[in-house]
Amino acid sequence: MKHFFLLLLFLTFSLISCSSDDDTVIPSQNDVTYTNDIKSIIDSKCLNCHGNPLANGAPISLTNLDEVKEAVINSDLIGRVEDGSMPQGGTRLTPAQIQAIKDWKAANYPL
Ligand code: HEC
Repeated sequence: MKHFFLLLLFLTFSLISCSSDDDTVIPSQNDVTYTNDIKSIIDSKCLNCHGNPLANGAPISLTNLDEVKEAVINSDLIGRVEDGSMPQGGTRLTPAQIQAIKDWKAANYPL
């Protein structure tokens, strides 16, 4: 009897969690922000060339949100990290890091 009650309780909660799906905030891939996610990737992998001042022949700086956003829009930043041509001479970004930049773009570049 005790087990039956527990089973009933379990089923009830299962039903509740199913039926409330519409209200549930699904944890989004797109809660990436510049401050929490993107800046540390760029700072550690790119700024030794794309910093201020520019070094090693890098043509653009990537030191703040606007500059990185601009590079995603106009300089194919995502393509460059995907094909491995950036970071030049360094270790490639991980798939998770590249995905974070894509999610950041998809979320319209939150700070
Ligand atoms: C060792 C120096 C160096 C590092 C580190 C480096 N870059 Fe570059 N980057 C360059 C140079 C030099 C160029 C210009 C030549 C070229 O386009 O390949 C360039 C060009 C670019 C361009 C094209 C800019 C344009 O408008 O033509 C982008 C975008 C870019 N880098 C992104 C990145 C990102 C993102 C990182 C870090 C993940 C990174 N780079 C790391 C040296 C570097």
